[in-house]
Amino acid sequence: MNPELPNAQLDWDDQGRPYSRVFDDVYFSDLSGLEETRYVFIEQNRLKERFAALPADGRLVIGETGFGTGLNFLCAWQLFEEQAVAGARLHFVSVEKYPLTAPDLQRALALWPELKPFADQLLAQYVAIHQGFQRLVLDNGRVTLTLLIGDALEQLPQLDAQIDAWFLDGFAPAKNPDMWTAELFAELARLAAPDSTISTFTSTGWVRRLLNAAGFKMKRTPGIGHKWEILRGAFVGWPSETPAPTPAKPWFARPAPHNGERRALVIGAGLAGCASAASLAARGWQVRLLERHADIAQEASGNPQGVLYLKLSAHGTALSQLIVSGFGHTRRVLEQLQRGVDWDGCGVLQLAFNAKEGERQAQLAAAFPADLLHVLDQPHAEARAGIALAHGGLFYPEGGWVHPPALCQWQASQPNVQLLAHRDVLELRKVDDQWQAWDGDTLLASAPVVVLAGAAEIKRFAQSADLPLKRIRGQITRLAQTTESQSLATVVCAEGYVAPARLGEHTLGASFDFTSDDLTPTAAEHLGNLQLLEEISSDLVTRLHADQLDAEQLQGRAAFRCTSPDYLPIVGPLADGEAFNLAYAALSKDARQVPDVPCPWLDGLYVNSGHGSRGLITAPLSGELLAAWLDNEPLPLPRSVAEACHPNRFALRRLIRSS
Ligand SMILES: Cc1cc2nc3c(=O)[nH]c(=O)nc-3n(C[C@H](O)[C@H](O)[C@H](O)COP(=O)(O)OP(=O)(O)OC[C@H]3O[C@@H](n4cnc5c(N)ncnc54)[C@H](O)[C@@H]3O)c2cc1C
Ligand SMILES: C[S@@+](CC[C@H](N)C(=O)[O-])C[C@H]1O[C@@H](n2cnc3c(N)ncnc32)[C@H](O)[C@@H]1O
Repeated sequence: MNPELPNAQLDWDDQGRPYSRVFDDVYFSDLSGLEETRYVFIEQNRLKERFAALPADGRLVIGETGFGTGLNFLCAWQLFEEQAVAGARLHFVSVEKYPLTAPDLQRALALWPELKPFADQLLAQYVAIHQGFQRLVLDNGRVTLTLLIGDALEQLPQLDAQIDAWFLDGFAPAKNPDMWTAELFAELARLAAPDSTISTFTSTGWVRRLLNAAGFKMKRTPGIGHKWEILRGAFVGWPSETPAPTPAKPWFARPAPHNGERRALVIGAGLAGCASAASLAARGWQVRLLERHADIAQEASGNPQGVLYLKLSAHGTALSQLIVSGFGHTRRVLEQLQRGVDWDGCGVLQLAFNAKEGERQAQLAAAFPADLLHVLDQPHAEARAGIALAHGGLFYPEGGWVHPPALCQWQASQPNVQLLAHRDVLELRKVDDQWQAWDGDTLLASAPVVVLAGAAEIKRFAQSADLPLKRIRGQITRLAQTTESQSLATVVCAEGYVAPARLGEHTLGASFDFTSDDLTPTAAEHLGNLQLLEEISSDLVTRLHADQLDAEQLQGRAAFRCTSPDYLPIVGPLADGEAFNLAYAALSKDARQVPDVPCPWLDGLYVNSGHGSRGLITAPLSGELLAAWLDNEPLPLPRSVAEACHPNRFALRRLIRSS
């Protein structure tokens, strides 16, 4: 687990330029930051020609050490916008140990008026930038920025990407010797695409020699401004004297890139399906979204309010990493929606309702930065929440509530997505290179790629029947806002949750029933929810007049959550179960075996399911993860987290358990 990562500590000179206190160095050249960036990074990597040469479905992936003020990124984006054809895409992956705060970023970027159209878009999305992988989708998906927040030497080894051009930035080697190491350069080489190029503003001899030794062929070239010489180079191959990096295990390796028609069916129009459709559509795929109901978001994703609540671990588990990255991504997507009706960033207060919870919260507060979460004592918690409380708790200032159907609607209404309602897919058949979706004798639709996003219903398909998904019924209660309940200013959670009113109604949730198959709301569960409210705040019970309500008259709705045994979602390509067991049978004798047998993928079949009680946080980023698997792009999550969410994990565990 990373300790708390501080933001950049800056001083500003008399011309408004930022200077790093930690590194005792400038963020960009004294003379002209713009000219230097363009010369050192853009020209030396020949980006103008490379952007201009991209085909309509092409993309270029740039990697950078040291995002800083984002100047290099914005210059690259500006040039991409000028040179690349419509449909081409830019991926920019940058690692940053000390991210600027949003106000500092705004102040620094104000220096470059000509970049304003791009800087404004970046600033609008520069929210919830916390440790680990943070994906920002810009310009309707034409530009993707993946920030890896943390030390380059910790973050880059977790990256799964093929970088076409490296910007080696990161303060002068003499000021930042910990970063400019052979270990870092080996990572740049591991991640380099076959024709990758690289450039840096330094010409320091040992940097050049270490880069050469890592497999880059570096050349000195005339510099600019104060710089007499700089370095540029190309990746020529992994050096023969160094052991090659270990490839991904075959069951987690990337399927062969899809080269055919870019048409996909997504089955199920809840949060998972709508997110998958939007992520694919942003990459130029023509997506048909098949839903058995008359409209989107009629099942688990249909509640009036859901909570953006981060159930984290202080131990940096895969789930906890996924939650921090997923939360950031969802928060940024929500910036496109209407605050107050579609969502609200009112904060979430998790009450320390017993000693054990208080202890857990103290550990979390020590492990995460205060802008993500911090402890509030009881008086401060009351002041925040606007109601009387028996306890203090942990406050997530960027959390809040979401109207999930609004998020689904926004995603499903992106260009290239077509909703096909009243389509209940009962069976999938592969004919030649097409997957066909059938309802009895009726062929509903076909495409080379299908994404199964029907929550636990995906078990009805022979191809995904073995995935261990369970349904857990849950019911929410709708409570009319009263004059006194208007003071509720944040979401408050204990075992249940209650949100500030949306359109005159509070949502109170939620029950858990592991056995019932019936979705008719019951009075008993409304009573249970009122009990959860009592545990949150008896003052709020009074304000809502909830002690006078007749449970038989209460309104609400019930739906099924869909969970996996390890509580992680299931996202990625599907393999043929029987062929998988045969291919990797050796593991049942010795779990350390890695048979050199390619995974028997069900070509074109993908899953996005198992989002449990936190689909608002995990489903949108899972759409990005799925699209990255499918389009052979940089993964938006650490490799280990993507593997922890991989559909093959269960078949693999079954084989190993039998060893
Ligand atoms: C009571 C309750 C409270 C919750 N509270 C929160 C919360 O506060 N915060 C949070 O983040 N999450 C919460 N969740 C969880 C969240 O709602 C889910 O994780 C999320 O909605 C799952 O989205 P999904 O798209 O996977 O599933 P769903 O929304 O269930 O969507 C699946 C869709 O697929 C369709 N479908 C299935 N099979 C087929 C088929 N064969 N053909 C055509 N269509 C098909 C279904 O009709 C459905 O529309 C809650 C869930 C419940 C039940
Ligand atoms: C000169 S600035 C980069 C300028 C930046 N590319 C721009 O366009 O504004 C160097 C950046 O590298 C970051 N950095 C330094 N050491 C690092 C490390 N070990 N890991 C990740 N980032 C690091 C610093 O925090 C700083 O933001």
